[in-house]
Amino acid sequence: MIIAVDGPTASGKGTIAKALAAHFGLPHLDTGLLYRAVGRQVVLNGGDPDEAADALAACTFSEDLLADPMLRSEETGGLASRVSVHPGVRAALLERQRAFAAQQGGAVLDGRDIGTVIAPDATIKLFVTASVDARAQRRYLEMCKRGDPVTRDAIAADLAARDARDRTRAQSPLVPAPDAVLFDTSELDRDAAIAAAIALVEKRI
Ligand code: C5P
Repeated sequence: MIIAVDGPTASGKGTIAKALAAHFGLPHLDTGLLYRAVGRQVVLNGGDPDEAADALAACTFSEDLLADPMLRSEETGGLASRVSVHPGVRAALLERQRAFAAQQGGAVLDGRDIGTVIAPDATIKLFVTASVDARAQRRYLEMCKRGDPVTRDAIAADLAARDARDRTRAQSPLVPAPDAVLFDTSELDRDAAIAAAIALVEKRI
């Protein structure tokens, strides 16, 4: 069983993917982390994330980098969004994701193009959405908890910019697969979203 979970930043897709993996006893890959590692590695290399050659050179990041807490920062999220527009970067990360999806027993992957590109034959595809307001509020509370000094307006502006870049890029834009189930979490808290996602998957298997 392959479960594909796609959606924009702070839609709840990561939380849902993790919970589905735990519930169904499947391994989980947060594919955004791979793009974040490339974004971070570009900076470590002193390169420019908007330059295709610099971004491609950063795809050979070391596995240790995936555990770096810096990857979770908003700044690295922005860098990830910039390096992810380069087709060479997407190609370099493709096999790793496909191999994860193809492992025996199945897997849960979350990202932007799992249902459309990485695992088009997934058993179930969820496209998780939420309003910009709901997503900005969630991200704001998360960052306050971490002690990051940000304003809600700055977060909303950053989310909108990232959405626009992810949705309009030529290669693997953020769009629901034709056979994806659209799942809006704007009005749901964490537990309600998880319970509803489990019910959606159970209906399909
Ligand atoms: O999901 P997360 O916020 O960690 O992703 C960071 C960035 O990486 C996204 O804004 C997107 O540009 C890129 N990404 C992608 N394809 C994926 C996962 C993430 O382009 N499968």
